[in-house]
Amino acid sequence: MYAAFRSIGAYVPEKVLTNADFEKMVDTTDDWITKRTGIKERHIAADNETTSDMGVKAAEKAIARSGLEKSDIDMVICATISPDYFCMPSTATIIATKLGLPKVTAFDISAACTGFVYVVAIAKAFIESGMKKNVLVVGAEKLSAITDYSDRTTCILFGDGAGAAVITATEDKEEAILDIHTGSDGSYADLLMTPNGGSGSAHDSLDQEAAGCYMKMKGNETFKVAVRTLTSDVVEILKENNLDADAITHFVPHQANYRIIKAVGDALKMRDEQVVMTVEKYGNTSGASIPMAINDIYEAGELKTGELMLLDAFGGGLTWGSALVPFAGPVKK
Ligand code: UT7
Repeated sequence: MYAAFRSIGAYVPEKVLTNADFEKMVDTTDDWITKRTGIKERHIAADNETTSDMGVKAAEKAIARSGLEKSDIDMVICATISPDYFCMPSTATIIATKLGLPKVTAFDISAACTGFVYVVAIAKAFIESGMKKNVLVVGAEKLSAITDYSDRTTCILFGDGAGAAVITATEDKEEAILDIHTGSDGSYADLLMTPNGGSGSAHDSLDQEAAGCYMKMKGNETFKVAVRTLTSDVVEILKENNLDADAITHFVPHQANYRIIKAVGDALKMRDEQVVMTVEKYGNTSGASIPMAINDIYEAGELKTGELMLLDAFGGGLTWGSALVPFAGPVKK
C-alpha cells in the first residue's frame, strides 16, 4: 500500500494588515519590509476566531475535493505552534469534533514551520503500515496570538491562516508520495522560540506578562541556517531519488522570506516558474504556509494531476524537512 496526496484546501482570514499599517505601529517602513522580506501584507484572524476554526474551514475544502465522505477520514493530525489551548486538548481533536468526526485518532505535532512536512510524513507512515487509510493533515496557525506587536524585528513577518490535505491509501505506485526527509537540531533552540510558559520556566513565570510567551527570533542567524539547510536538504532528497531539478514542476518552500526562497531556488538552479512564492500576500504562516501555497497554485489551475511537487521546510526547533509529492487529486474545474 502507498500513500497518495489526494487533495488540498486552505482558509485565509478576512482582515489584512499591510506594511503601511505597520508603519503606524512600530519604527519601520514599507520599503524596509519589502526589500528584506518580500512581504506586502498578511491576514489576521478575528479575535474570536481560533486556530481550529481556520483549520476546519481548510479541512472542509480538502475533504470535499478528495471525493471522500467525512466519515471516511480515520485520522486527523494538526501541525501548529499556536494551538487553541496550551498543552491540551489538542487542536486536532477540536478540528475533528467540529467536522463531526468524534471518534478518529487525532493529535497535534510541534515542528514549527516544518510542521506540514512532518504531518505528511506521519500520515504516509500510518498508511503504508496499514494502520490508517484516509488521513486529514492540517497546518493551522493563529500566529497573531503569539506575536509581540511592539517588536519590529518579528511582528512584521507573521500572519494567520490554515491549509489542509487528504492523504489516502492507494495501490497505484504512480500516485505514491516518493520520499520524505525530516530532521532536527535542538542545539539551535534559542534561534527561534517562545521562551516562557513551559516546564522550562520557573513556576511563577506562568503568571508573568504574556510577553514571555511571544515568539522571539534571532532573525539574521536563522536566515543563514535556513538557506544552508533548505538547500542541502533538497540536494540530498533529489540525489537519493535520482532526480534533477527539472523533474520538479512545483518547488514549494516554506514561505518565510523571499530572499531565502530566491537564494535556495537559485542554488538549486530552479527556474522562476517552478518556484511557488506566496510570502508577499500572507507573510510567514509557519505550519500553514506550505499547504496554503499549494492551495494557491491549485486554485489558480496550475496544479495538474501527476505533477511532482517538492516541499521544503525549515523552522523553530530547529527542524527541517523535504518531500517529493506527486499531486494525485483531480484538477480544479
Ligand atoms: O519561519 C521560520 C524560519 N524563519 C526564517 O527563516 C526567518 C529568517 N530571517 C529573516 O527572514 C531575516 O533575518 C529578517 C527579515 C528577520 C531580518 O532581515 P535581516 O536582513 O537579517 O536584517 P537584520 O536582522 O540583520 O537587521 C538589519 C537592520 C538592523 O538595524 P542595524 O543594527 O543595522 O542598525 C535592525 O535593527 O534592520 C533593523 N530592523 C528593522 N528596520 C526597519 C529590524 N527589523 C526592522 C524593521 N524595520 N521591521
